[in-house]
Amino acid sequence: MDKILVLHGPNLNLLGTREPEIYGRTTLADINGMIAARAKEAGIAADFLQSNHEGVLVDALQDAPKKGYAFVILNAAAFTHYSVAIRDAIAAIATPVIEVHLSNIHQREEFRHHSVISPVVMGQIAGFGADSYMAALEVVIRRLAEAKA
Ligand code: DQA
Repeated sequence: MDKILVLHGPNLNLLGTREPEIYGRTTLADINGMIAARAKEAGIAADFLQSNHEGVLVDALQDAPKKGYAFVILNAAAFTHYSVAIRDAIAAIATPVIEVHLSNIHQREEFRHHSVISPVVMGQIAGFGADSYMAALEVVIRRLAEAKA
């Protein structure tokens, strides 16, 4: 069975209560539950990791090929905007990574407009709330089906 890793960066554990006017009231458990259900329906196993620590996310990215993940869906949260370590980890692995954001980072403060990881990911989906993750998952489902056709 194909498996994917869903990685959530700092402060995303607070979804539901964190700045709800920006991030909504959906919790991280809700998001993971929706992803798990759709992945299961498509015959894909999904693992989840949230960390507030850059090195933990770097380790998870480095381990993704060894653990046999076909794709990584990554919301690097604030690290998106400045973590060269996370960018380098993505560049170092062959596993395709899809960058997601709940909010439309391009409509927000200037410092959020730039993503240091965008040049090394497959693509970016931003601005659709929890549906950013669901859209990324649909891409994964289609790519995996295409690879088998
Ligand atoms: C975020 C956007 C980032 O700028 C911010 O630091 C986050 C969440 C999003 O999902 O919209 O923590 O990645």
